[in-house]
Amino acid sequence: MRTLIVGSGGREHALAWMCARSGRFTEVFCAPGNGGTPQMATNLSVDATDAAGLARVVAEHQIDLVIVGPDAALAAGVTDACLSAGAVVFGPTAAGARIETSKVFAKEIMDASSIPTAAWRAGTVATRDELRDFAAALHGKCVVKADGLALGKGVVMCDDLATAELAITACLDDQRFGSAGERVVVEERLAGHEVSVFALCDGTRAHLLPMACDYKRAFDGDAGPNTGGMGAYTPPRELDGATLLDAVAQDVIQPCLDALAARDTPFRGCLYAGLMLTDDGLRVLEFNARFGDPETQALVMALDPGRFADLVIACAAGELLGNGREPQRRAAVAVVAAARGYPGAVTTGSPITLPLPDGSDTMIFHAGTAWESGTLLTAGGRVLAVAAAGDDVEVARERAYAVMDRVEFDGKRCRGDIGAAKPVAYSGQS
Ligand code: AMP
Ligand code: GLY
Repeated sequence: MRTLIVGSGGREHALAWMCARSGRFTEVFCAPGNGGTPQMATNLSVDATDAAGLARVVAEHQIDLVIVGPDAALAAGVTDACLSAGAVVFGPTAAGARIETSKVFAKEIMDASSIPTAAWRAGTVATRDELRDFAAALHGKCVVKADGLALGKGVVMCDDLATAELAITACLDDQRFGSAGERVVVEERLAGHEVSVFALCDGTRAHLLPMACDYKRAFDGDAGPNTGGMGAYTPPRELDGATLLDAVAQDVIQPCLDALAARDTPFRGCLYAGLMLTDDGLRVLEFNARFGDPETQALVMALDPGRFADLVIACAAGELLGNGREPQRRAAVAVVAAARGYPGAVTTGSPITLPLPDGSDTMIFHAGTAWESGTLLTAGGRVLAVAAAGDDVEVARERAYAVMDRVEFDGKRCRGDIGAAKPVAYSGQS
């Protein structure tokens, strides 16, 4: 079997590594991949959102299975194009991906299916007064979200009405997020503990992976601006994962799958539920239609690659054997090294020095890296992640940081508290 992984981030490097180790594939391709993926795959220089180009790759390289990494690729119809070219695809069609690409659509599904979520209103320029009134009723303690994809920047946490009004204006009048902000969601601001759940879905059934936590803020102690993710670990500390996963499967994942199937957009791929565990029970903050980054870099270290690949293949083919749970073999921690200035503008082109691999417990997953004349250079904001497994989170954490200490490039910056025992205030806390 031949597989193509679409994307160029750390998540895609981790998926390529998992596929290569699984023993299920004769060849692994990445499009476009990054500076790390040639270790275990063949990079093809086709952009992740070039649906027609990727369909040609499927035909030319006789690809059996396509795994789509990024949301932008799903939104661009990469799944639809690769299905037409004859591959089976792990990743929903553009219509199914609306569960991520439109926050209004996701909220409508949640309400229609009684999936617990924050109270909300959606509006446009024409109905802005209703949005303002709703924010005022919440005393400004709300979250303002652009409806569409906005590179993770379309969410503003508000503590007061003035901030909420500014955020609404930025979307609707200043068009800060372009057409993604033509509609706006204002929702109740929740407090609690955030966890991510990944459900591998075959259209009607779901197999849940162990839960993970990610770190969105740039600096230690959850300070600084939101980023694409500075680290992740699994399993979440101090949580009864088994009981919680049962509730998530029953109250969140299955109703969402059923609703998408009923709309003729059955979901095959990874349905990622971002949850807030509040004093009143769990609430869904968002759905994503793909694997998390950097949670995937941690999860591949914690799971059996052969089983993981079998699940992905079964989902893409619509043939999961039943609703299941993947056992947690090990704990894992992934720490991201970013370039100075991230998530703002960064300089690229700095040479990177990496330690040699020290066994199967740690792995360096590249993201923004590229080779030039035999030298590995930085090529993006999030440069790489060191991922490590261990019998518990503490051991995995020590292993990850021991390797991270030996990663060198100019302007390297990483958080020191990924997976740390001390509960870290999360960004949603008021
Ligand atoms: P989203 O893209 O909707 O997941 O929002 C990004 C991040 O904003 C989430 O991971 C949370 O940290 C935070 N967030 C989103 N919605 C809420 C909410 N209703 N209450 C508190 N925090 C939220
Ligand atoms: N780790 C957050 C995301 O992938 O959206």
